Amino acid sequence: MSRFDWDYLIQKDRVHRSVYTDEKIFRLEMEKLFGGVWTYLCHASEIPNENDFKTVTVGFRPLIVTRDKNGDVHAIVNRCSHRGAVICKAKSGSSTRFTCPYHGWTFRNDGKIMGPSFPKLYENTFDRDAHNLSKAPRVESYRGFIFATFNEEIVSLVDYLGPAATYIDHWVDRAPEKEIIVDAGAYRGLYHGNWKLAWDNAADGYHVNFAHRSLVEMTAIRNGAGQGASYMGSDPDDSPMYVKQFPNGHTLLHHRPGMGPSIWRQARPMPGREFYEDKIKRKLGEEAGASALELAPGYGVNLNIFPNLLLLANQIQVVEPIAIDKTALIWHATRLKGADDDINLLRMRIGEDFPNFGEVDDLEMFELCWRGLQTSEIEWINTSRRAPEEQVDEAGVLTATATDEAPLRGFLHAYREFMKRDSVNAVA
Ligand code: FES
Ligand SMILES: [Fe+2]
Repeated sequence: MSRFDWDYLIQKDRVHRSVYTDEKIFRLEMEKLFGGVWTYLCHASEIPNENDFKTVTVGFRPLIVTRDKNGDVHAIVNRCSHRGAVICKAKSGSSTRFTCPYHGWTFRNDGKIMGPSFPKLYENTFDRDAHNLSKAPRVESYRGFIFATFNEEIVSLVDYLGPAATYIDHWVDRAPEKEIIVDAGAYRGLYHGNWKLAWDNAADGYHVNFAHRSLVEMTAIRNGAGQGASYMGSDPDDSPMYVKQFPNGHTLLHHRPGMGPSIWRQARPMPGREFYEDKIKRKLGEEAGASALELAPGYGVNLNIFPNLLLLANQIQVVEPIAIDKTALIWHATRLKGADDDINLLRMRIGEDFPNFGEVDDLEMFELCWRGLQTSEIEWINTSRRAPEEQVDEAGVLTATATDEAPLRGFLHAYREFMKRDSVNAVA
């Protein structure tokens, strides 16, 4: 049983500061959430071939995500079965085997031990099967997104995603061949603060007009008021954008209804924009070129799969807690399989925009919250902003106006239920 009174700490319209600042709670989160629910590891296209691998960290557990010679994917714990050292230090690569740098034990890329080095002294005493590398007991994927859990009792990944999976489908189905490709490296940002500050913000349509003021004004000057990010400038409560709160803490902020008929027209300036627009229209024709250009920017959603996967515009963001006060946000550019090369090139260019000109605003807000929350005498954080027309459908999905704090409450309430559970994690 948990010794925390979760119903006290997370209430209908407020959350206790200790949920963000208590070290013991942070440690429990790494156990019960990262590893205890379905946690995103990487995209299938990052390990496309037999023997490819990528290393990731899931709630302090170093993992090697491998594709073995049969094409099966494993989430191997990157911890030597000898004395516990991390075996693979590379970020990614291709290898049939991994050799521990400490005493040279070697393992296959499905985790099976090949042998301890200089085995003579182990003779008759060495139980090989007991020294295979451990693995996450369950690895499942959805539309190329690979997740793992150490909790054998959790529902299937599809059931965990629930109605949020439809929005993953929308996002991926924009690709002419209905697949996305992640192969362009990553932009890694760090902020000084708790990881959930990023979650508080993930579907927050309320902060845009203030935290992103310079971006809103610049967009309005370029595109005219009332479109793109500038829709937030006038009366954000009445914007046609909306938020959704799904079961299990997943959330959505849907910008598309506020973006006018063309998303491409709303995209901010980028190097080569005019040149490539012209080139694509000459190559594909005016009409087909114009509709291909609509695939370059994001789809107009922030879709957030609890606890660590965010689909933002045309990118993937992974939330990686490093310490209670240190969080990495890792942005991966994506290509659309089957799209024209110049469209995919523009996607890369657009991918440089928000992390540099928008995300920096958010990171500053997270750090300001973190500093303010150090005031131990003030206990509560307000989460009460609620539109009168909030509606919950039969699938348990709540829809509300974009400035409603429903997504914030939704993920915290799911979090509370996950944190109440007894820990049942295990390795395979
Ligand atoms: S810790 Fe890996 S071989 Fe010794
Ligand atoms: Fe923001």
